[in-house]
Amino acid sequence: MSNENNTIVIFGATGDLAQRKLVPALFQLRCKGRLPDGLRIVGFSRSDYSDDQFRDFMWKGTREVGELAMRQDEWDMFARDLYYVSGDLRQASDIARLGQRLDDLEHHESSANRLFYMSIAPNLYEPAIQNLAASTLARKDGGWRRVVIEKPFGRDLKSAQALNRVVHDVFAEDQVFRIDHYLGKETVQNLLVFRFANAIFEPLWNRNYVDSVQITVAEEVAVGDRAGYYDQSGVIRDMVQNHLLQLLTMVAMEPPSSMDADSLRDRKVDLLKAIRRWSPEEAAQNAVSGQYRGYLNESGVAPDSTTPTYAAMRLYVDNWRWKDVPFYLRTGKAMTEKASEIVIQFQRPPHMMFSLEQGRELTPNTLSIFLQPDEGIHLTFQAKVPDQGMTMRSSNLSFHYDSAFKEQEIPEAYERLLQDALAGDASLFIRSDHIEEAWRVINPLLQAWEDSSAVETYEIGSWGPDAAAALLAQDGREWLRVGGGHEGERA
Ligand code: BG6
Repeated sequence: MSNENNTIVIFGATGDLAQRKLVPALFQLRCKGRLPDGLRIVGFSRSDYSDDQFRDFMWKGTREVGELAMRQDEWDMFARDLYYVSGDLRQASDIARLGQRLDDLEHHESSANRLFYMSIAPNLYEPAIQNLAASTLARKDGGWRRVVIEKPFGRDLKSAQALNRVVHDVFAEDQVFRIDHYLGKETVQNLLVFRFANAIFEPLWNRNYVDSVQITVAEEVAVGDRAGYYDQSGVIRDMVQNHLLQLLTMVAMEPPSSMDADSLRDRKVDLLKAIRRWSPEEAAQNAVSGQYRGYLNESGVAPDSTTPTYAAMRLYVDNWRWKDVPFYLRTGKAMTEKASEIVIQFQRPPHMMFSLEQGRELTPNTLSIFLQPDEGIHLTFQAKVPDQGMTMRSSNLSFHYDSAFKEQEIPEAYERLLQDALAGDASLFIRSDHIEEAWRVINPLLQAWEDSSAVETYEIGSWGPDAAAALLAQDGREWLRVGGGHEGERA
């Protein structure tokens, strides 16, 4: 790897994300030989740590990650490039002190490159960026300057627009890397390969053959020790505005002409613009909220909180490809299991020449794309049961990552994203217009739910409130599960 003068500055370096995800991902990249030589990582946070204490703190997080615990010798080498500056990012003088340390570490070379990673509470993005500008740390002197901003980006359309303005006062759009870690997941990127590197699926990928699309991101975990943040955000801001809408754009967008950042992101924004807009009343009719039983007892949650921990909704994409095909999205905490899956349900054959047993309906073909934890793809189709007349049964063609690519581990999403940000490739990051368009889609729902105090409860370990099943029943459909079976079944 080239020997440039590169520094990653992590704001919020003593937080969970930095300790459990960012530094382990950087270490993993170093072990794979994918980091520029000499890259240094400078943590900045309020805790009063020395460089060595910071290194120990990061090793604690890193050794929790599977096989990385075995790599202490490599870690010791890597950790020499970790440094720490303690300070308050709201104080311009502390940021200026950080600047002096950076200058020293970079040997005052004007060609040094800096990546600023905002792993901090969202209310600190603005002061951090403003102080970076005031103390000239972000000024290009020959080397590049980039900023990575974690989600949530704003609380609604207005605040996202305001934040974009603050960011753009200091950084040009091509210096800004807004993260949605779902885009770093291999299986999400595989959606692009599946759709656009195969000729046989794309002709079917439209209203002529597709009945409906379901996107499920179910989590088994509850809010745990993040209740303070979560109670202020709720499921729409935490999961839907970002991760679920990203999945929807990847499934439904038109083919980009190339993988470059703008071609891909233009198509995604086009798709968001085509999502049928709701009034707040329509939003309430097309969506269901839920809160798991026991949420109000979580420490950090207001005793009368109506924050939803579950959401299900029906969206339409008004364009030639998808007109009148419903897209059903659902996500929640404290559900039966962790399962992220996209199911394309195809239409039934127009005419049935085989007689079915009384009361039995033909199961239509489904294509299920499992994002996690059992990464793979399943296509269901009807097969004749041997020696039983013309009896048919739903069968399955499957692809599993772990058996297809035995020698290849699926990497953490942050590895790919950090590597791309260092390389200046923004394809898997979110552009300012995408963020704003996603808020436009979701704003009426936020408004509808914030105006009403009703939230249905659901049992921990269930598939969410009954009203979610009723939402699909209105259309004569049901939520589909792993392998294309109906809810409750497993193929
Ligand atoms: C985060 C949310 O963005 O995504 C969390 O803030 C959620 O609430 C997490 O648990 C889910 O990510 P993953 O990669 O485990 O599906």
